[in-house]
Amino acid sequence: MTKEITAQELNTENFINDKVKEIQHTVGDRMAINALSGGVDSSTVTMLGHRALGKRLKTVFIENGLMREGEPEQVVGLFQKLGVTVEVVDAKKEFFAALKGITDPEEKREAITQSFYKDVFGRIVKQSGAKHLIQGTILTDIDETVAGIKRQHNVFEQLGIDPKEAFGYRIIEPLIRLRKDGVRKVGKALGLPAELFEFERIPFPGPALAARVIGEVTQERIQTVRKATGIVERLLKGTGAFQYMAILHEDRVTGMRDGERDFGQQIEVRCWESVDARTATPTRLSFEILENLAGEIIRDVPGIVSVTYNIAPKPPSTIEAV
Ligand code: XMP
Repeated sequence: MTKEITAQELNTENFINDKVKEIQHTVGDRMAINALSGGVDSSTVTMLGHRALGKRLKTVFIENGLMREGEPEQVVGLFQKLGVTVEVVDAKKEFFAALKGITDPEEKREAITQSFYKDVFGRIVKQSGAKHLIQGTILTDIDETVAGIKRQHNVFEQLGIDPKEAFGYRIIEPLIRLRKDGVRKVGKALGLPAELFEFERIPFPGPALAARVIGEVTQERIQTVRKATGIVERLLKGTGAFQYMAILHEDRVTGMRDGERDFGQQIEVRCWESVDARTATPTRLSFEILENLAGEIIRDVPGIVSVTYNIAPKPPSTIEAV
């Protein structure tokens, strides 16, 4: 079992020095790859990897078509300022093809995992000659996967999967003993700018917006949840909540628009109070904020006739819907 380092006991300077040495030792004089999504975990790992390997670390942003509005450009621009070159790899077609027709949540996660690690990364690793992928898996990802709650997209060895055999490269996970609060401390100590914690203050899952579409993930349905996500993030930014999101439901509900029946779609808003994502409770948002959310979503997101707010805690709920 992986032993936890709590945020309280974490000495960031020692932690960073140890991990830099470990990465250098493992990679030797070869190249390594890392995937940056712009989230706090992958951003922290990117900085750690660059400190250890410099130009021998190739950082890529996989454009899977499932990210939020403007996200690829924002992430690339931000890291450019930090002196890290990020290569954008367009893999939209592969991801949507893999997700076609799938409605089961765990099958959806599996399709994303396979596209990401086998198809897209397998190709990049082969082209670059790297032997290692460095990624920002954290302890909470492991806990929930091993407990069978949710198959986190980035967990392998704890499930008895050897990445070398399955995908042809090894995976280095420097943050595996930390939880979210610990990762934030390390990220700050590595010089990640406040802007990143601002822009990406809230966690965002590896399967991206696909974790927020109940039922089949299509380009059109992602576009709907992406629009709603933009509104939810803008209106709830000031709450200081741990995480907030829009979820697109599969069931349709009868609505009316301009005096006519409109059999439309439904968006669920979730806003969470949590420290480490293991447990969470809904934020007590004011009714005024809730009304603003509903008003903007109904007005600006085509096809939505119903907006609900989640009031169930985790557990038994989970933070994402898929
Ligand atoms: P759940 O939905 O399991 O989420 O309560 C707990 C935290 O983890 C994030 N999450 C993920 N992060 N890969 C990730 O890197 C995943 O597959 C994944 N699924 C959920 C979620 O956003 C929340 O912060």
